[in-house]
Amino acid sequence: DWSPESVIAEQVARIREQVGDKQVICGLSGGVDSAVAAALVHEAVGDQLTCVFVDHGLLRQDERKQVEQDYVQSTGVRLVTIDAVDTFLGALAGVSDPETKRKIIGREFIRAFEGAGADLVAEAAHGSGEPIEFLVQGTLYPDVVESGGGSGTANIKSHHNVGGLPEDLTFELVEPLRTLFKDEVRAIGRELGLPEVIVARQPFPGPGLAIRIIGEVTEERLDILRRADAITREELTAAGLDDEIWQCPVVLLADVRSVGVQGDGRTYGHPVVLRPVSSEDAMTADWTRVPYDTLAKISNRITNEVDEINRVVLDVTSKPPGTIEWE
Ligand code: XMP
Repeated sequence: DWSPESVIAEQVARIREQVGDKQVICGLSGGVDSAVAAALVHEAVGDQLTCVFVDHGLLRQDERKQVEQDYVQSTGVRLVTIDAVDTFLGALAGVSDPETKRKIIGREFIRAFEGAGADLVAEAAHGSGEPIEFLVQGTLYPDVVESGGGSGTANIKSHHNVGGLPEDLTFELVEPLRTLFKDEVRAIGRELGLPEVIVARQPFPGPGLAIRIIGEVTEERLDILRRADAITREELTAAGLDDEIWQCPVVLLADVRSVGVQGDGRTYGHPVVLRPVSSEDAMTADWTRVPYDTLAKISNRITNEVDEINRVVLDVTSKPPGTIEWE
């Protein structure tokens, strides 16, 4: 008896009851979850919602433009963009430990909202300076379980939108997707009229490309990974594999180098790992049997077009025992 309509009706009522006539903000990550959570809250409280997009410099190619143009045009939500690239990269400098990265990113997200962002948002909201009391998060059921929020489950990773929150948090959370799985979230997004480019988008983690660089995160490494990721997504889409593949992280092994040859010259570059997975809900996953020709095309293009990469490898591990992301 599950239907998108009934979940929307139930959540809208619940959000109205929780929020009353107060102001709400929602961080848009560019991903499906935050987009649908924001659309639900917009449905419930309309103009009381202001969306905030933190550009932390850990995004995929063109992602900022997609949020600022596609999403805003299709929903009509009010959006404030906070440029926080220097702050995030500064906070991440010298850090290679996965959990430390996640905690820093979670903390900086909230700081970005509470700091410079709060004024901008209040002004955008209504110019009266009334404080914003609620923060929307697109937390899904699997995020809750894997961050140890479920019934007695061990903490596997600190998802930025659950375990990474600072203790002095001054917002009350609104989490309308907390009981839902990704396919349900997509159904709700479609029902709410979001465009297919957003609803069908591959999941992308809140901590972004930072957790796909094994080693320290630097601007140069981000730039390398971003180019390899864009090529991979382009080729998988061109091969018609978007439905079969849940997501395909591209992981840069930034501290590893191997010897190669290009033209007459020796190269000493980095490997990237392709991690195509098929899944229903990201709780478990299998590696996708991507056709060899498609893999060959991706590998050729990456090694030809991204100078710093001279080797492409394929991750053939299911989840469990591997997780989808490498960090
Ligand atoms: P793992 O790596 O735990 O990933 O198998 C499961 C799914 O969650 C995504 N993921 C995240 N999503 N914040 C998010 O919103 C996070 O911190 C985060 N970490 C992982 C991952 O891309 C996969 O779809």
